Amino acid sequence: MKGLILSGGKGTRLRPLTFTQAKQLVPVANKPCLFYGIEALKEAGIEEIGIVVGETKEEIGAAVGDGSRFGVQISYIEQDAPLGLAHAVKISQPFLKDEPFVMYLGDNILKKGIKSLVEEFKTEQPNSMILLTEVPDPHMFGVAELKDGKVINLVEKPKEPKSNLALVGVYMFDSNIFEAVNAIKPSWRNELEITDAIQYLVEHGYKVRPHIVTGWWKDTGKLEDILEANRLILEGMSGKILGIVDETSKINGQVFIEKGVKIKNSTIRGPAIIGEGSEIIDSYVGPFTSIEPRCKILRTEIENSIVLEGSEICDIGSRIDESLIGRGVKIFKCPPKPSVYKFMVGDQSEIVLK
Ligand code: TTP
Repeated sequence: MKGLILSGGKGTRLRPLTFTQAKQLVPVANKPCLFYGIEALKEAGIEEIGIVVGETKEEIGAAVGDGSRFGVQISYIEQDAPLGLAHAVKISQPFLKDEPFVMYLGDNILKKGIKSLVEEFKTEQPNSMILLTEVPDPHMFGVAELKDGKVINLVEKPKEPKSNLALVGVYMFDSNIFEAVNAIKPSWRNELEITDAIQYLVEHGYKVRPHIVTGWWKDTGKLEDILEANRLILEGMSGKILGIVDETSKINGQVFIEKGVKIKNSTIRGPAIIGEGSEIIDSYVGPFTSIEPRCKILRTEIENSIVLEGSEICDIGSRIDESLIGRGVKIFKCPPKPSVYKFMVGDQSEIVLK
């Protein structure tokens, strides 16, 4: 079996971060989201992986390379425009050939990986296997309707969902999917929808097997979901101190402090991770926080947040919560007089003041 990871797309819901960065490389617990997918495929025994890339192809290529560091072989497949998940499958036919494959959305993370699912697909040999999970807001997702354990209908973001079973971003197909992606027409949003392609399989007598996912699954396409994925991954992580912590600092719970980190006169309450070379001074870093390498947190309180590489946060009067702070960002306090706010903020940023 081959793997196909989709890592193109527009990433509009994660602007402004995605103006300068591929959303699949936004880190969750200090590891790019895309790497979780590559590792999940490798764990399932899939070593020949195609990555569909768009505008951010250079950045993705630089981060992933030829795959040897993951023990896999990566090919890149260029998608000229993000014309939909089924379009990504269509253009990947020369890479996939006649082999069955797992399609994995590059911004998705599944707690339990996909090993047992790939085994189920290989044993049962349906034409497709789709993963489903119960969600409170099905109208935001592709939704499946089941009858007697079979998929009978699929709709993308339905106004009136027939079930609360949403499609998780991992799919398995045999080569009959190419008949489907070549037959369907673009949707109202001008995308070739994978839900339409699977619906085609259902309507043309192909066997589409549903599998309800039990462990958590996260699509990290928007802020709240990245923070939630970060919480879930940190929760399962064990602590280790490889940096320097002075005697006036306190480390509570599972905290991963990487090499070259300096913690002075601060409290770190896990689960949390502090990346290589970062400095935390006279500060509080609370649970569910990931600080990437080379950041400086001075006289500041922060929790439930992600801070990307090389950012500096100093003298913030109140606690920073539920925030995603980009690379090389500087946030600091003005002198007491005049009492003003000063901003230099990129397009489509979001700032919430109390
Ligand atoms: P989405 O999150 O559905 O789409 P998007 O990346 O355009 O994001 P937004 O809605 O915020 O604008 O895509 C799921 C995954 O599939 C993601 O990793 C991007 C990738 N993708 C492609 O590779 N090609 C495509 O044509 C599309 C639509 C998505």
